[in-house]
Amino acid sequence: MSSRDDIYSVPLTTVGSFQFDSDVVRVFPDMIARSVPGYASILSVIEQLAVQYVQPGSSVWDLGCSLGAATRLIRRRVDSSVSVHAVDNSSAMIQRLQQLLPDWEPGAPVLVTESDLRQVQVTNASLVVLNLTLQFLPPEERDGVIGGIAAGMLPGGALLLSEKICFEDPRQQELMTKLHHDFKRAHGYSDLEIAQKRSAIENMLIPEPLQRHVQRLTDAGFSAVIPWFQCFNFASIIAVR
Ligand SMILES: C[S@@+](CC[C@H](N)C(=O)[O-])C[C@H]1O[C@@H](n2cnc3c(N)ncnc32)[C@H](O)[C@@H]1O
Repeated sequence: MSSRDDIYSVPLTTVGSFQFDSDVVRVFPDMIARSVPGYASILSVIEQLAVQYVQPGSSVWDLGCSLGAATRLIRRRVDSSVSVHAVDNSSAMIQRLQQLLPDWEPGAPVLVTESDLRQVQVTNASLVVLNLTLQFLPPEERDGVIGGIAAGMLPGGALLLSEKICFEDPRQQELMTKLHHDFKRAHGYSDLEIAQKRSAIENMLIPEPLQRHVQRLTDAGFSAVIPWFQCFNFASIIAVR
């Protein structure tokens, strides 16, 4: 059971850089559900994509898997000839995921790896998930990461990319930020929590415009690049190899 996210609820003298450490792991499901509009809908579409795109004998990769929310839904929709890889570079996330696995419902075997996703070679993939993960990599490395994923995918396979996005028009940026903060307030976060979390994460999570993601996926050789979801400053794209 996830605890309520209260990490930024008291004033901090210095707000350090956001880390996926054991404090965040303790509250993570609550944090992401109350911070990312549409998170549950995105997960449910990932489960649909598993049915639609995963090929027998292929592999699936959940890169930046956190506590395996997407992995858990995918593995129950694929047969045991499929290798499901869950990768994250946070040792606290991976340790907790290993504890949770035995309580999951039956499904295809999961290979859990603690690693930087840039060190992982995706191969034989019919489905790859980058759900709110690419945004934490330096922008100048993102072309190489997406190119490497594309090279390891089977024809007809799908990549699901979800990201926090930004806007070139300052008025749009201001409005989407305000609506996102209103969403967080409506889900119980105080102005202090919103402000402190923002300052902790702003140098680590670098959003790009939606069009930049679409262009990168197109340049990497995906044959169809379909933005299918946007709520305020969060978007998700299906890219078919
Ligand atoms: C917002 S969470 C992702 C949520 C998750 N995909 C889900 O659907 O619940 C971002 C995750 O990416 C991981 N991450 C960040 N940079 C990474 C990297 N370079 N390699 C692997 N994992 C990374 C973090 O540790 C964190 O668990």
